Amino acid sequence: MISTRSYSLMVHGGAGAFENLRAPECEAETIESIRRILEDGREILQRGGSALQAVEACASLLEDDPLFNAGRGSVLNEQGRAEMDAAIMDGRDLSAGSVAAIGEIANPVQLARRVMSESGHVMLIGEGAVRFAAQCGIPRVPDAYFLIPERIEQLKEAQKKLQTLSDKKNDGHEFGTIGCVARDIEGNLAAATSTGGIVNKLSGRVGDSPLIGAGLHADNETCAASATGHGEDFMRTVLCKMISDYVYLKGMDAHQATAAGIDFLTRRICGQGGVIVIDHAGNCASGFTTRKMIQGWIERGAGTIVRI
Ligand code: GLY
Repeated sequence: MISTRSYSLMVHGGAGAFENLRAPECEAETIESIRRILEDGREILQRGGSALQAVEACASLLEDDPLFNAGRGSVLNEQGRAEMDAAIMDGRDLSAGSVAAIGEIANPVQLARRVMSESGHVMLIGEGAVRFAAQCGIPRVPDAYFLIPERIEQLKEAQKKLQTLSDKKNDGHEFGTIGCVARDIEGNLAAATSTGGIVNKLSGRVGDSPLIGAGLHADNETCAASATGHGEDFMRTVLCKMISDYVYLKGMDAHQATAAGIDFLTRRICGQGGVIVIDHAGNCASGFTTRKMIQGWIERGAGTIVRI
C-alpha cells in the first residue's frame, strides 16, 4: 500500500560512456558521493523539509564535488573558463528560476533559487546574473576555483582533437550535468538541474539545463523531471515537459511517461542523454539512450540505490 506521506528523492550525475571513469576508484568514489548526497537529502525530507529545499541542497552538494560537471567540477569552454547553467522549479505553483552562461559563482543552483524568489523574473544570464548575485550577497569566487587539473587536461585533449559540437555523436563523449528531483511528505514536487555544459563549447553557448521544460520541469499535478545529455537534443524536444504532459494528458505513471519520452527522443532525433522522474504518487523512474547514466534514488522512504 502506498503511503501518501512518504518522500521520494532521485539524483543524477550525468550520462555518457564514462570512459574517464575507467579507474575503479573513481567509479567507487562517484557511487559513494551519490549515496552520501542522497542520505543528506533523506534527512531533509524525513524531518518534513520541502522538496524544494531537498533539491537545492542535493544539487549544491553535487556542484561542490569536482567529480561532477557542475559548479566546481564544471568543464571548461573554448576560452578555458567555467560558464555554467542552472535552474530550479517548484511544483506547488510552477514558480521557477534559472541562470545561464555565468562564471564566478560556486553554486549556480542557489543563484537560480534567488532568481525565482527575489528577482521577479525567471531567467538571468551572464554578467547581469552575476551582478544580481552580488545584490543577494552571494560572493564571487575566482576563476581559479574551477581550474582543476583534470578539467584543464580534458580541455587540452578536446582542443587537440578539435572536438566540437559537430562530433557530438562520438560514443566516448560525456554529457555531464547534475540534477535532482524530489517529492516531500506533503506531496510537493521540485526539480533542479545544473551544469558546466560541454567541454570546449563556444563561449555564450547555453544548453538545456536552465530552460524550463527542456532541462527540468516540476508540477505537483504530474511529476518532477531533470535531464542530462546533449543539451541541444533536449531543447529541440522539450523533453521534461513532454514527460509531464504524458502524465497529465494520458494518465501515465513515471515509468510509462519516461519510457514514452525516451522513445520519442530516440525515434525522432536519435537524442543522447537521460532523465530522472518522480511522479505525484512518488514512483521513481529513469531512462537513458547513452551507454550509462550515474543515478541514485530513494523511493517512498525505502533504501538508497545507486547505479552507474
Ligand atoms: N545537458 C547539459 C548541456 O548540454 O549543457
